[in-house]
Amino acid sequence: MGFDPPMRAHGGYALFVRDSTNGTASPMALPEAYMKDNTLGAYSIADLREIARRRLPKGIFEFVDRGAEDEVSLRNNRAAFERIKLKPRVLVDVSQRSQEITLFGHQQKMPIAIAPTGAAGIMWHEGEIALARAAAAAGIPFTLATTSMTAMEKIVKQAGGRLWFQLYMYADRSLSHAIAERAKSAGFEGLVVTVDSPVFSNREYNLRNNFTIPLSYTLRNTTDVLTHPRWLLGVLMRYLLTTGMPRYENYPAEVKSRITAQPMGRALKLNDALTWDDVRVLRKLWPRTLMVKGILRPQDAVLAADCGADAVIISNHGGRVVDGAMAPVEVLPKVVAAVGKRITVMVDSGFRRGSDVIKALALGANAVLIGRSTLYGTAAAGEAGAARAIALFREEIDRVLALLGCRGISALNPDYLALPPAMSDAASVSIMR
Ligand SMILES: Cc1cc2nc3c(=O)[nH]c(=O)nc-3n(C[C@H](O)[C@H](O)[C@H](O)COP(=O)(O)O)c2cc1C
Repeated sequence: MGFDPPMRAHGGYALFVRDSTNGTASPMALPEAYMKDNTLGAYSIADLREIARRRLPKGIFEFVDRGAEDEVSLRNNRAAFERIKLKPRVLVDVSQRSQEITLFGHQQKMPIAIAPTGAAGIMWHEGEIALARAAAAAGIPFTLATTSMTAMEKIVKQAGGRLWFQLYMYADRSLSHAIAERAKSAGFEGLVVTVDSPVFSNREYNLRNNFTIPLSYTLRNTTDVLTHPRWLLGVLMRYLLTTGMPRYENYPAEVKSRITAQPMGRALKLNDALTWDDVRVLRKLWPRTLMVKGILRPQDAVLAADCGADAVIISNHGGRVVDGAMAPVEVLPKVVAAVGKRITVMVDSGFRRGSDVIKALALGANAVLIGRSTLYGTAAAGEAGAARAIALFREEIDRVLALLGCRGISALNPDYLALPPAMSDAASVSIMR
């Protein structure tokens, strides 16, 4: 049995079991203690996803990992990146390169931000603080979701950094407005209002796995949890022995409930009667950066700008709401052409590689939001895992910039890309930086 030195050069250890009869060595699963270098044995987001898959109960993993209905959008989010090819320039001096951007007047070292998910707290004990800290350490914004399990004031105190708050508009609008007021008092820099979910989406595997919110106990999901002891002991039991069953800490006091409580309250039903007037109201209520998330049409981006929003986030919610929705990166050039000179354009859904980020920035996005990738990291190892996911993006973005012959984000443009025909017309009129 021994370590394989060449593997160490890649930042990890491989442990081998030697067969004494014929002297051959075969790899063995690594004990966790040997994996405590900062790579965590993960060299891609896919590796972090695999660690998360093993640690989490199936119901929780699928809740995070999968998409709506037949997952056409989920798959197409990835396929859309594969249809866009890179066109490297050679013999360009790229020795001085940078991935810094300026977003809403702030310089940041990387062109990404953390998308709202409300799920980090079930990936890891106090996972929202862990993820927010990793974001703060990397100097990128972290978005706390309405449905998160950590009070917004606690995130401000224990993580700091640049913080945005994501808002769902509920049937009782005054509840959502009260949440926004609270985020304002807590000092959040940005408000992200999500507009792509007038009703709950259809995700059948959650029903099959008996993974429902509020959480309920059935034989199937109890067995699922019992067969994942690291999650049971490291996450659920730690909550139960300290602060108790997690609650939606950012709901107003009158409707605050445990994630096991029935029901979450009628007032908290999603609002299916929202219009652009609601964005105008929020514009009056929220004096700082206002972002509208869930845009897939250029004309809707124009309406958001007309309502006074500072930014749009082009998103199909990571393929989790209406199945069959276009991939955000496909509509990006048209949105940039429509509003890129007026407001900030950001995009999310399906980003797993630095090259995906580069493609979106070359098409005119000002920044990219990351959803599942950092959740997988958080599930794998809390703050260290989230930091590893961010580091992977940092390393990959840097490497792809160099290999493209490009010194910085501001020099990226559609000329670095070979686009499928449906995208190339719009990209040719989108902003050349
Ligand atoms: C588990 C999970 C929960 C999410 N919850 C929210 C939410 O509460 N509000 C919201 O606006 N978006 C939510 N999203 C969508 C993300 O903000 C983001 O749009 C999406 O994850 C991006 O796609 P990606 O996961 O492929 O990066 C959630 C996504 C996931 C995976």
